[in-house]
Amino acid sequence: MPLLDAARAVRENAYAPYSHFKVGAAIRGKSGTIYSGCNVENAAYPEGTCAEAGAIAAMIAAGETEFTEAAVIADSPNPVPPCGGCRQKLAEFATGHVEITLATTAGSTRTTTIAELLPGAFSQSDLER
Ligand code: THU
Repeated sequence: MPLLDAARAVRENAYAPYSHFKVGAAIRGKSGTIYSGCNVENAAYPEGTCAEAGAIAAMIAAGETEFTEAAVIADSPNPVPPCGGCRQKLAEFATGHVEITLATTAGSTRTTTIAELLPGAFSQSDLER
């Protein structure tokens, strides 16, 4: 799966000297282009950023605002679940039925959707008055 391959490759560049937990994420923009990102930790721990945030930033920087597929990989016992903040970030740029593949470096995968990850997400429409 090309998207998972991209997530696996970018994970190698993760900067995780504190947690030693490297994560790679990749999203496919509507145009078909793949954007990838890895976690970037910081000595001031809360300043670290997640892999998903990096992939989203790369897509936005390239001028796209919607993705149609996503993949996240880590060396975790079970397919890595995105953190709560990343679920909200992902939901901003994809419709609920978009599939996201969660994976371990050992080879297990679980496919879910944006809506399953964050049911009842707060969205742009909730800002309407
Ligand atoms: N991490 C991610 O990059 N994405 C996730 O979905 C889960 C957690 C990172 C944040 C931190 O650098 C490390 O994994 C350990 O929490």
